[in-house]
Amino acid sequence: MKRRIAVFASGTGTNFEAIATAAERGELPAEVVLVVSDRPSAEVVARAARHGIPCFAFTPKAYASKADYEREIVARLDAAEVCLVCLAGYMRLVGETLLDAYGGRIINIHPSLLPAFRGAHAVEQAIEAGVKVFGVTVHEVDRSLDGGRILAQRAFEYDGSDRAEIERRIHATEYPLYVETIRRLLTE
Ligand code: GRF
Repeated sequence: MKRRIAVFASGTGTNFEAIATAAERGELPAEVVLVVSDRPSAEVVARAARHGIPCFAFTPKAYASKADYEREIVARLDAAEVCLVCLAGYMRLVGETLLDAYGGRIINIHPSLLPAFRGAHAVEQAIEAGVKVFGVTVHEVDRSLDGGRILAQRAFEYDGSDRAEIERRIHATEYPLYVETIRRLLTE
């Protein structure tokens, strides 16, 4: 049976695209039933529309607090009967309201080999540190910053500082790893 999943993103949404496409092709036992974005102008919002997937795009400043907009998100996840939330470039810390309702069912993809380089500037920090092995991590989301249980990691060697090339390879590493990890979680 197809499981109902949601993807949260703030930006371009190429990981969303990889997940939605895999689901459409039957490569995932899942259907993306909801996209959530905290940036109504983000490219991921248009991508969701192209896939015919409902999108809740909201403006955080229009709410009195994080708890307020997260209550709205929880209501929409509940209504869509979502069993797994996949963060894919969602640039907000998940708060208590969402964790209380969906804790243990939220995962994230991060562009470093955690626990190295947590936070929003992981790629820059890895370049700055002069690492020769880059990588990506899929992890559970808990109350820490990028510190939840590690579910999967994949690395690649690169001896250089061409940021565009590193980002291209990080993305190329992320797509299959995220899809494989979601598949494993939904089938194990
Ligand atoms: C990815 O590199 C992911 O690791 C990070 O944000 C980026 C999102 O890229 N958390 P995209 O929007 O999926 O293209």
